[in-house]
Amino acid sequence: MRFIQCKDYAELSLTAAKIMQEKIIQKPNAVLGLATGSTPVGMYQNLVKMHREEGLDFSAVSSYNLDEYYPLSSDDSQSYRYFMNQNLFDHINIDKSRTHVPSGEAKDPEAECARYEELLASSGGVDIQVLGIGENGHIGFNEPADILHAKTHLIHLTQDTIAVNARFFEKIEDVPTKALTMGMGSIMSAKTILLLISGAKKHRVLRSLFDDSITTQIPATLLKTHSDVIVIYDDAAYHG
Ligand code: F6R
Repeated sequence: MRFIQCKDYAELSLTAAKIMQEKIIQKPNAVLGLATGSTPVGMYQNLVKMHREEGLDFSAVSSYNLDEYYPLSSDDSQSYRYFMNQNLFDHINIDKSRTHVPSGEAKDPEAECARYEELLASSGGVDIQVLGIGENGHIGFNEPADILHAKTHLIHLTQDTIAVNARFFEKIEDVPTKALTMGMGSIMSAKTILLLISGAKKHRVLRSLFDDSITTQIPATLLKTHSDVIVIYDDAAYHG
């Protein structure tokens, strides 16, 4: 793991966007793995700015998102498809037919997970996978557990995650209790992983990445076995 410390969220967001920009310039048809949540929003804002002001070209890029609530319509303003359109896709020249998010509308979630996993395999591999991290160490929605799953699967969110995500909803009862998420293997198959960690609440989980221990109870620690992970964190996450 390579660690980059930034003074604040703005610097973290710009640093992450520059790494993405470099990848897209190097490889115009790059396959991007994308995340939702509050952490990557600043990076997406920088990418939109780079598109508008510097002509960063997304026309040949394709993307795969980590996860989606289940069941949930893609038109729902709480869906991750909606989030991606609002925060990135509607503001850049990406071909939307090349943007992929697991479908929260699928009748058969298992079939949808298998379809998504096949789609990922046919992409030729994600070139760079952006990750946020849960306070409990989840990546995607791979929650702490004795057993983690390798492939895209349906997961029951933990009470911790539901409580943390309730800030995006009117009331906690509105937070979906399930999600479709890429598995640990799907995430680890990305060539490069960009893990973004911001804010004092992520202090404990950031510390767990500094030694060489690995536990399924903090799923992000498995990233220590990947050969190309860049962790970008801010002072607030470092000092707690
Ligand atoms: C989002 C995702 C989640 C978030 C994590 C952190 O697609 O997969 O793992 O990255 O819950 O969320 P924020 O950034 O809101 O703290």
